[in-house]
Amino acid sequence: TQQQTWSQRFESALHPAIARFNASINFDIQLIEYDITGSQAHAKMLAHTGIISTEEGEKLVSGLEKIRQEYRQGDFNPGVDAEDVHFAVEKRLTEILGDVAKKLHTARSRNDQVGTDTRLYLRDQIQQIRHLIRDFQGVLVEIAEENIETLIPGYTHLQRAQPLSLAHHLLAYFQMTQRDWERLGDVLRRVNISPLGCGALAGTTFPIDRHYSAKLLDFDAVYENSLDGVSDRDFAIEFLAAASLIMVHLSRLSEEVIFWASEEFRFVILKDSCATGSSIMPQKKNPDVPELVRGKTGRVFGHLQALLVMMKGLPLAYNKDLQEDKEALFDSVNTVKACLEAMTILLHEGLEFRTQRLAEAVCEDFSNATDVADYLAAKGIPFREAYNLVGKVVKTCIASKKLLKDLSLDEWKQLHTAFEADIYEAISPRQVVAARNSYGGTGFAQISKALTRARSQMTTH
Ligand code: ARG
Repeated sequence: TQQQTWSQRFESALHPAIARFNASINFDIQLIEYDITGSQAHAKMLAHTGIISTEEGEKLVSGLEKIRQEYRQGDFNPGVDAEDVHFAVEKRLTEILGDVAKKLHTARSRNDQVGTDTRLYLRDQIQQIRHLIRDFQGVLVEIAEENIETLIPGYTHLQRAQPLSLAHHLLAYFQMTQRDWERLGDVLRRVNISPLGCGALAGTTFPIDRHYSAKLLDFDAVYENSLDGVSDRDFAIEFLAAASLIMVHLSRLSEEVIFWASEEFRFVILKDSCATGSSIMPQKKNPDVPELVRGKTGRVFGHLQALLVMMKGLPLAYNKDLQEDKEALFDSVNTVKACLEAMTILLHEGLEFRTQRLAEAVCEDFSNATDVADYLAAKGIPFREAYNLVGKVVKTCIASKKLLKDLSLDEWKQLHTAFEADIYEAISPRQVVAARNSYGGTGFAQISKALTRARSQMTTH
């Protein structure tokens, strides 16, 4: 049986199944580099404050660095007997340095240690996710630039509503992910606070300098209250909420891509590099990428829910329940990164918009009906009156299997004397889109401005 760090106080050894149940090393090994960095800062602080000697501090720092190298070379693989990454590193450090290693845990607890590690990890990951959002936005802007004049049906209730510029449709996702990018920046402000030095829960008897270690680790601030510092997981929940919203946005786009690629819509062609086939139906080409993104969205929502429920009944301060935060965070981080990357590739090289089909699609419906009403309203007819008249026209057109563009000028004039020959231009899909030149609208002139704004939003830090 294995000696645990805390075995002296115990009569007998841990049941092997309980040891496995208790252990987090299988997943928190991912924190090892942050654990080492955090311990190095702690060691430097201990030396800086004279709690240990300068020489002892230096030994601790370089011994920890050796473990980092061993880990990177694949030579450090602690098993379940190590319990968690913190004990694993401390044990290995004792093998390397001998007695001096036993001073590392002075004025520290695993509770402030794990909180420090998790925040350092999340800070790194948030920065990586923000970069991936920028890559995704870059592709959106690129495709939007090429498709300002490509028209696509716009929907409400998934019923044809008003035609749009394809660029406008894509830039809607730009703005959603821009909020995601900003939201992560806001989360980062509360992630980047140091709990190191909160101790087990009450602080420490040693004359530590929490601001010193926080500065070494590039934290912006320190937790004001030691109890709060070791038991707060708001930052993790906030991150999962922000991650969930990223997934909402990716999932909505996925859903659109999936039906755009269907025979019923035929708006996009899926390229071979991002689609898969069927084991039985030889003709199939399936949109697995957006389907997986849509499916994985549930995982991230689930992790958010798991942490909220895990936290709600916890008394202060640390409880082992908190160990459950890690798999939720790790899986969410990995899922969001993988989905952002896959969607960026899908947009960049996996989709081809069928511009001919789109041009036909915007001509085959009544999505220019609002423009007939607007035409009359612009000539002084009260909008509701004009709207009622056009409603009747649409009804008779449907009965006679005609579209608005098929009505003769005589027929228009019989409907209302205000109609002139320019009604045909006014209801052409291109003009319908161009005319929506209000700020933030789909009009082509607006889109050029929207693209300029998007490009400058992308360069803010
Ligand atoms: N593995 C633990 C966790 O992830 C580390 C902290 C353990 N602290 C304790 N008092 N048991 O939460």
